[in-house]
Amino acid sequence: MSLAPTPVLTGPTGSLLDLIGKTPMVEVTKIDTGPCRLFLKLESQNPGGSIKDRIALSMIAAAEAEGFLKPGGTIVEATAGNTGLALTLVGQAKGYKVLLVIPDKMSKEKIQHLRAMGADVRLTRSDVPHGHPEYYTDMAERLAQQIPGGFYVNQFANDANSAAHFKTTGPEIWEQMDGDVDAFVAGIGSGGTITGIARYLKSVGSDAKVILADPVGSTLAGIVNEGVPGPEGSYTVEGIGQNFVPDTADITLIDKAYSIPDAEAIATVRELLLKEGVLAGSSSGTLIGAALRWCREQTEPKRVVTFVCDTGAKYLSKVYNDAWLADQGLGERELHGDLSDLITRKYENGDVVVIGPDDTLDTAFKRMKGADVSQLPVIDQGRLVGIVDESDIVHVMNTDEITRQERFGKPVGSVMTRDLDTVQVGEPLDALIPLFDRDRVAIVLDGDAFVGLITRSDLINHLSLNRQG
Ligand SMILES: Cc1ncc(COP(=O)(O)O)c(C=O)c1O
Repeated sequence: MSLAPTPVLTGPTGSLLDLIGKTPMVEVTKIDTGPCRLFLKLESQNPGGSIKDRIALSMIAAAEAEGFLKPGGTIVEATAGNTGLALTLVGQAKGYKVLLVIPDKMSKEKIQHLRAMGADVRLTRSDVPHGHPEYYTDMAERLAQQIPGGFYVNQFANDANSAAHFKTTGPEIWEQMDGDVDAFVAGIGSGGTITGIARYLKSVGSDAKVILADPVGSTLAGIVNEGVPGPEGSYTVEGIGQNFVPDTADITLIDKAYSIPDAEAIATVRELLLKEGVLAGSSSGTLIGAALRWCREQTEPKRVVTFVCDTGAKYLSKVYNDAWLADQGLGERELHGDLSDLITRKYENGDVVVIGPDDTLDTAFKRMKGADVSQLPVIDQGRLVGIVDESDIVHVMNTDEITRQERFGKPVGSVMTRDLDTVQVGEPLDALIPLFDRDRVAIVLDGDAFVGLITRSDLINHLSLNRQG
């Protein structure tokens, strides 16, 4: 372990905004970095939890200075979440209203966080291209024109965006690396980060290579490497990748790009948490995945910097949730070519939330709510004996037992359905349809043994992941 000097503690500050920037840097020591040393700048330590705090501060200050934003005004932006959090943090501190337009694929933690901070969040479609009236930037621009005192921040074409990185992130990296950096790796959302830092490093005479980390499905890596846009597609990582070159991005500054698939990005952040203890967001997996590829390709020792752009706490229900990964087809699992391929939670692995016949309805209901399911298999001594769902519980509400305690104290075995709609694991997909037509969930057995449940949503998800098939 390198011995860093004891950090100098400063006294309390009057504003959270004073704590933006000056983020720490940590070396990756337990993952194979080839002959190189890889350093992570922890932008997740900013008060808003991401690198975007820096640009919110500078874009709002510039708008005030240029007279675009006046007291009582409304800050309007199109954002995948982090810029919105940052603008809300800075905007609220300065007394402005904040209205954000967000594509509907974004994680619910970010949206909940924004609403709780007082932002007016408008969700819009994530399946339409730039130029469509419901595309998030087009919608934000229109709203800003309609609202009196509205200021459309437009991080994609705002000079104060890359300027924030030229003035703060770039100099911090230079100082923390003692002026010795061979490459830095970043993604492009707006392009502010990569452009501002590349410009700064060049301005101090550094010849550090500038590496773009791009998700597979974003067209930018193709433009950098081959001069033509790469194939466009959808991807899971949030905050980076584009199907156009934003005005804020100067891609002539970029030396090389890597296209990183979602599965590699996710495996990388999971490994980072396990081995290094760093809880990073999904797009940081794209960055670190690209940085590791570059490092491992080198034949001589190099010093490389990349970022943890935001905290993984915003993605606990996604990247760090095995059931979600399996639903997305991103988990590590064997396919058997039978109905078990549709079952994301298998009984034999202990993944199915179940109940016993002697448990009370109170317990059953709490378990359903906790697991966000509407039915539970009833298991007695390892064998499936019934199923209890919300309608069974509703029926009990209609009985003579008048107190809540009496109703909810009833045993599951007294209300569960014993007449089970089962299918054998080897049956074809078609076998599910009659069950779903009767509003049932499919109970899958292998002989007598309970394998798991298949819902309509599992079938739709399976078909949508296997569209090419
Ligand atoms: C979550 C996240 N947001 C934003 C960025 C960069 O954004 P921009 O190009 O807008 O500066 C990155 C990566 O560089 C990122 O991982």
